[in-house]
Amino acid sequence: MSHKIQTLSGYFHEYQKSVTNPEAFWARIAESFHWKKQWDKTLEWNFEEPDVKWFVNGKLNITENIFERHLYTKGDTPAIIWEPNGPNEANRIVTYRELYEMTNQFCNALEAQGIQKGDRVIIYMPMVPEAAVAMLACARIGAIHSVVFAGFSSSSLADRINDCEAKMVLTSDGNFRGAKQIPVKAVVDEAVENTPSIEKVIVLKRTGEEVVMKEGRDVWWHDAIQGQSSEYTAKEMDSEDLLFILYTSGSTGKPKGVVHTTGGYMVYSEYSFSNVFQYSQGDVYWCTADIGWITGHSYIVYGPLLAGATTLMFEGVPTFPHAGRFWEIVDKYKVNQFYTAPTAIRALQVYGLEPIAPYSLDSLKVIGSVGEPINEEAWHWYHDHIGKGNCPLVDTWWQTETGGIMISALAGITPNKPAHASLPLPGIQPVIVDAEGNELKGNNVEGNLCIKFPWPSMLRTTYGDHEKCKNVYFSAYKNMYFTGDGAKRDHDGYLRILGRVDDVINVSGHRMGTAEVENAINEHPKVVESAVVGYPHDVKGQGIYAYVICDMEGRTEESLKQEIKDTVRKIIGPIAKPDMVQIVPGLPKTRSGKIMRRILRKVASKDISNLGDTSTLLNPEVVDQIVEGAGLK
Ligand code: WTA
Repeated sequence: MSHKIQTLSGYFHEYQKSVTNPEAFWARIAESFHWKKQWDKTLEWNFEEPDVKWFVNGKLNITENIFERHLYTKGDTPAIIWEPNGPNEANRIVTYRELYEMTNQFCNALEAQGIQKGDRVIIYMPMVPEAAVAMLACARIGAIHSVVFAGFSSSSLADRINDCEAKMVLTSDGNFRGAKQIPVKAVVDEAVENTPSIEKVIVLKRTGEEVVMKEGRDVWWHDAIQGQSSEYTAKEMDSEDLLFILYTSGSTGKPKGVVHTTGGYMVYSEYSFSNVFQYSQGDVYWCTADIGWITGHSYIVYGPLLAGATTLMFEGVPTFPHAGRFWEIVDKYKVNQFYTAPTAIRALQVYGLEPIAPYSLDSLKVIGSVGEPINEEAWHWYHDHIGKGNCPLVDTWWQTETGGIMISALAGITPNKPAHASLPLPGIQPVIVDAEGNELKGNNVEGNLCIKFPWPSMLRTTYGDHEKCKNVYFSAYKNMYFTGDGAKRDHDGYLRILGRVDDVINVSGHRMGTAEVENAINEHPKVVESAVVGYPHDVKGQGIYAYVICDMEGRTEESLKQEIKDTVRKIIGPIAKPDMVQIVPGLPKTRSGKIMRRILRKVASKDISNLGDTSTLLNPEVVDQIVEGAGLK
């Protein structure tokens, strides 16, 4: 049943097979899952439309592959270990059988509240086992979940609800986050004022704070499950039925609903999980992401649970109540695989080694990184002080759109190289192309990263707008999926990801479209025009720098800057708040009116050594004014 690669030569052997005959390769892996009906054809595809189908006409339910497939042998094995935000609150250990019963009960509750196969359900919840139950119950009844990170604002939430015309929101009264308590139900209340499709809101009691429950619309979670049976027969789904929608930022002004389907996502999330982390039965695996991001979907919930693993879910933040909390948790549960983001590592690095000292960390076998390029300094700190120099560090490159890890070392099997994602997983065919789309073969080449052959967990469309999917991902280069990232193949043949080449910035591992932030800034009545760029930031990787043209009447510069930051926080959420706002008299534009972001990026990163030829600009004088305004002159 296991398709875990055990040796380096095994990796090369599997990789070779996976490119010589991808259909046979994936069919063999898919056979280890439980299908209600076998597929007719393994793969149908073209990247023109795009139109990609895996395991065509196969019938299954992904949750049967988590529960029915494992219950017999793993009923009493912990599925989820939950560590609360506050260290004094009791933890929870949920076995596979308990998770199965909770999920079934919630399936019945969802149906009783009017949810049916194909309906969209928004999950706006804290990191508690019920959030996983919510996702799994949707999958089990065939509803399509869309998890929205519970730090997004009410208007971001409303936009997502409206885009997919969701019928229901699952939320909590409030969330604990470090020392803070966040009134999320109130955010939902504000959002659903403007979402005609929402019929019901189910509210989990978490903080116990006062909330307003609207008669006929709002139902407490505990009331919804009251008296519901803990038995439920999973609905039969087609392999290509939608499993979930996850909104993510791109270079357009509005987030896109990335669509993942059932069969392929199941096969790839489990396969990649087992191989990258080299999970062995009985291990305790911990990924620190939030379920609001793709990492939480694939590597807290689906991948590990499909593999019958024990997955740790942590509600809190790395620095509460102290900067050693992560390491305390690692020791407490004897965590074997630990998967986090470079931004968390850099944030903890600031506290030095003292917070780590009390903990042995000797259970760790594998450590991992995801979300952004990991700089060498953070890599070494993580490797030396957390991995104690003897844990493979897997630097995993992938995206919301790819559904699973694409380029990464397999822990302890394929070599590690600082700051290099390294080699593609079997079945993944990355290529580096030049601006014209010519494949750059061999080593020591640099260009844009594309994938030239389909893989099972790739996005199928962007919800409600297939043209957008085609334009954004499949039009830049013929017959290739374009990732939006730059990459280099070094002299040893290892891949290094160089970061985004489009107008997407990566703030603490969170994707932000610059246009999206600009749109939010422009909502402020005093703002005339704005341009947003990323700049290097010690902890966040990239910070958000906003150049804004304003009508200053009645405001001081300081008050206006603060108002602009608050506007973004209100419209998108705290993660999008600009780190720097510079009020400028104008923006450098080409004669065709396009903003010259290259210049703005240079000024933001305090590098004015080579601003290039500015004489062809419509308004060359503005460059000097901006440089001066930034305090660089
Ligand atoms: C970046 C997160 C370098 C990249 C799973 C990508 C990385 C974007 C890495 C996707 C990595 C993610 N090394 N860059 N190991 N992992 N990225 O959709 O720019 O939130 O395109 O998915 O994050 O972000 P997303």
